[in-house]
Amino acid sequence: MASVTDGKTGIKDASDQNFDYMFKLLIIGNSSVGKTSFLFRYADDTFTPAFVSTVGIDFKVKTVYRHEKRVKLQIWDTAGQERYRTITTAYYRGAMGFILMYDITNEESFNAVQDWYDTHYRYSFIYIYIIYISHKPDVDEDRALTIQKSEILSSNIRFDFFEASAKENISVRQAFERLVDAICDKMSDSLDTDPSMLGASKNTRLSDTPPLLQQNCSC
Ligand code: GTP
Ligand code: MG
Repeated sequence: MASVTDGKTGIKDASDQNFDYMFKLLIIGNSSVGKTSFLFRYADDTFTPAFVSTVGIDFKVKTVYRHEKRVKLQIWDTAGQERYRTITTAYYRGAMGFILMYDITNEESFNAVQDWYDTHYRYSFIYIYIIYISHKPDVDEDRALTIQKSEILSSNIRFDFFEASAKENISVRQAFERLVDAICDKMSDSLDTDPSMLGASKNTRLSDTPPLLQQNCSC
């Protein structure tokens, strides 16, 4: 089995036990749709045009703040290649949120969306929310997928849909924020503690900085 390695951000944060909640998230979709790039953009704010296909599975950890609570995100980046499917689906269990991605320059990746949806549903058991990402709109001249097809999908699904680009840093952070917010909202009934923490203010934005720093921030 492929080894699980910490990503750059993961090394620093993975052992950090100082958090209020931990959410396991998974990114799924065909090979080369841009899953790893999406995660690197979110976690490290980096992008590389080189394609290094993921072997098995990897993860990064990022801590965000929501209502003065630390939410630790354990984000798993799965390999899209078919030969790793047995390995990757073993990690679906316990995931609360999924990001399902296709590439607008690759129609096959769009046609595979239903299969990915079925797979995540079959293996995750407790999953709460899934977000769809139509990726790489920055390469519109190579668009293999008609805009209409994307629009039909986005209007038919009952989950959130983002057109996003890791390269141009479009809607990456927003997609993660929406996913975490959706999980928080759906969990608010079962979470103890202060009811004002989760359910009361739905559209509160996530933040990378602790509440104290935010208060002192002059920007
Ligand atoms: P597997 O690990 O094989 O499953 O692939 P992946 O889905 O992780 O794809 P990866 O993130 O490695 O990206 C594949 C290729 O797409 C790379 O060459 C990236 O540079 C490129 N890419 C990723 N995101 C974008 C984007 O938003 N726009 C453009 N133009 N290219 C992108
Ligand atoms: Mg990858």
